[in-house]
Amino acid sequence: MVHIVPPMSCHGNNATPPGPAVAPGVDNIDPAAIARETARRGMHPRLAHALPAFDAPFFQAGLAGYSDAAMRIIARRHGAPLCVTEALLDRMLLGGGRGFDKADLAHQDDQLLADNLPCGHEDHPLVGQIIGGDPDEMAAAALKMIEQGQRHDKDYRKIAYGDGELPHYVDTRWAIACESEDALASASDDTAEPTPPPAPTPPRAPAASPTNRSFATIDVNLACPVKKIDRKNRGGHWLRDPQGAIDILKAVRAAVPPEIPCTVKLRRAYDDTPEMARNFEHIFAATFELGYLWATVHARTVEQKYIGPSRWDILKDIVARHPQAVVFGSGDIWQVHDIFRMIGYTGVAGVSVARGCIGNPWIFRQARQMMAGESPTAPTLDEQRDVLEQHFRLCVALNGERAAGKLMRKFGIKFSHHHPQGEAVRARMIAVNRTDDWLSVLHEFYPSPDRAETSQTTAAAR
Ligand SMILES: Cc1cc2nc3c(=O)[nH]c(=O)nc-3n(C[C@H](O)[C@H](O)[C@H](O)COP(=O)(O)O)c2cc1C
Repeated sequence: MVHIVPPMSCHGNNATPPGPAVAPGVDNIDPAAIARETARRGMHPRLAHALPAFDAPFFQAGLAGYSDAAMRIIARRHGAPLCVTEALLDRMLLGGGRGFDKADLAHQDDQLLADNLPCGHEDHPLVGQIIGGDPDEMAAAALKMIEQGQRHDKDYRKIAYGDGELPHYVDTRWAIACESEDALASASDDTAEPTPPPAPTPPRAPAASPTNRSFATIDVNLACPVKKIDRKNRGGHWLRDPQGAIDILKAVRAAVPPEIPCTVKLRRAYDDTPEMARNFEHIFAATFELGYLWATVHARTVEQKYIGPSRWDILKDIVARHPQAVVFGSGDIWQVHDIFRMIGYTGVAGVSVARGCIGNPWIFRQARQMMAGESPTAPTLDEQRDVLEQHFRLCVALNGERAAGKLMRKFGIKFSHHHPQGEAVRARMIAVNRTDDWLSVLHEFYPSPDRAETSQTTAAAR
């Protein structure tokens, strides 16, 4: 039986339109100066060591329903140095569903896309995010994430369906470290002698290679505000149960091979009570005691969901009180200047770009331009058409042509903001249902130079 693995839906229909964060005094910050300073300083040494390819302090966030391989590849082509998968539910993963296929261009025959395997040379480094309600299941799901590249699922099954014990050590190093298909073949040979594990700390992931097929880090989601299902805590709801959250963090860290970093995404608190602030501190401290590489803090409460401003002032305080911790910030990153405002204001080591990059991959190019001391440039119409076409091709490869039109609708609506006739494009995008509808909006509003030339010639001939 094939189980469909939907991404964990981490959003409702309550997301607010762009607004500023709570950050008194942020207007005194000059984003251009911070961008140059950020480039001069380089990445946090622990990140530079663990993930050398993560070479700029921002990344594409996990965005359920959006951040599939197609969106990620587009972001990377525009300068995103790191991406996060949407949150994948532990039980669904263990159910052997198609969650990975959905994010895996490998299951398609399209040769043009053969080089675009997730975790291949374009979609790397990739953070794999899991969410769930039980430590053993989360540990098993973490292993399944790592092992999915090698399609070798014995160890996670031991935990999921066996006696509940974690294996001592699962050698999956080759899955991320192999440099050639030969290494891949010999490592998957069950008769081969296992290589002894390397020194566990500090973790260092290998540079990307076309055969890298695993995840750069395993990210535990303690942030999703969706209400608990099956009476099981999940995501941000763990912030009400710090010991439960810590049990999950422990189990995942123990299961994941030591050379693969673990990371966490959490909200600044469940709600604004002092008890919940204490819970956050407890979980946050345990995260780093357990050896997690970084914590991404979404500066809204779970109760807030996505409504209202995020509290950069509280994020700043968290960073100041934990100078040893690698902290990333999330919340109210709407345009490129916000990336550097957040860094300048809070002191975070990196910024998670979420709603601000849906339909706007150019935010990553602009961030790199600013780090190079240049002014950020808006996308031309040619660039917009090019990206829409690329995104559509990738979406077709992932989902098939029949589904692609409808799926591209939500991206098209967001992309329309850049178009000089934004309102008209938006209205047409909203009505897109099938691939033909999508193509006709593209032809009408984003004419290619060839088509424009042809229609001009035709008009002149008339
Ligand atoms: C539609 C949607 C889906 C999301 N899915 C995820 C997810 O799967 N994993 C995750 O860590 N965060 C998820 N988030 C949260 C974002 O990564 C980010 O933390 C949040 O949107 C705050 O940033 P922003 O205000 O700049 O958008 C999601 C947010 C939205 C709006």
